[in-house]
Amino acid sequence: MHKPKVLVTRRWPAAVEAKLSEKFDVVLNRDDVPLMSYQFRQALLDYDAVLPTVTDQIGPDAMELADPRTKLLANYGVGFTHIHLPSAEAHGIVVTNTPDVLSECTADLAMTLMLMAARRAGEGERELRGGNWTGWRPTHMVGTKVSGKTLGIVGFGRIGQQMARRAHHGFGMKIIVHNRSPVAADVLAKYGAVQADDLDDLLPRCDFVSLHCPGGAENRHLINSRRLDLMRPNAFLINTARGEVINEHDLVQALTFETIGGAALDVFDAEPNIARTLLDSDRLVMLPHLGSATTEAREAMGFRVINNLEAFFNGQPPPDRVN
Ligand code: DGY
Repeated sequence: MHKPKVLVTRRWPAAVEAKLSEKFDVVLNRDDVPLMSYQFRQALLDYDAVLPTVTDQIGPDAMELADPRTKLLANYGVGFTHIHLPSAEAHGIVVTNTPDVLSECTADLAMTLMLMAARRAGEGERELRGGNWTGWRPTHMVGTKVSGKTLGIVGFGRIGQQMARRAHHGFGMKIIVHNRSPVAADVLAKYGAVQADDLDDLLPRCDFVSLHCPGGAENRHLINSRRLDLMRPNAFLINTARGEVINEHDLVQALTFETIGGAALDVFDAEPNIARTLLDSDRLVMLPHLGSATTEAREAMGFRVINNLEAFFNGQPPPDRVN
């Protein structure tokens, strides 16, 4: 039987690559080098499905083609703002993502960042590894208590709710959420949460603010100097969503002039290039986009892509269609 021709743009977990190879006429990216834009355009002419991820910027130019062979972009990842949906739609290309399976691990990482920033874990490790620790003393590297504080969650989808679950039930935190649509009362009740009128209403009320909203043009620089000024002077900002949601220049200003307590980032506007000013800030914890980076989540993401491929090529609606 004819197997659909499928291109995987990056290295995936071995178990998933093996399953893909059984089921499809698959080309893997064994060197794990990101595709150039021209290679991506060519792929759309040569393959039935292309399996991109967040490192593939698929703008209108990448899809400026007369008659692409590709009919499915099955994205490996929950975020899909790197794919220009109107261009995909113009070609009748279906786009899918991988929700749910990474929510717990991404929320675990947001908790990690929140705790690291509050308890100065990055600074502490740097001091110790640098051979600069002189021993215990009552005033040494004193941080901020997390338990019982107020956490603002911006974007109350699956990951935001997992964050609320951990923070409220594990750390006794009070939860305030900002979401573009009203959140059902029974969902809020699960986490003892209240919904703020808007983001400007949420920011001054929180000790910690964690971002879980989509990226893209709609939320670009949602957190800017005006909104950073609305935060409490000792509050912390956590971002595991997308880099573009924060104006990094404004964040550096806020950290430098100590108008907020600190910040922790897993995502960056121009990643993997990190602004020098961010690297120089000691009040900032940074990780290299590790939100979903567990064996469990990364394998589950791959198998979720396979579900979408199988449904699509069997003529069924793919479960995670986003357009
Ligand atoms: C996503 O899924 O969108 C993450 O950023 C990568 O796991």
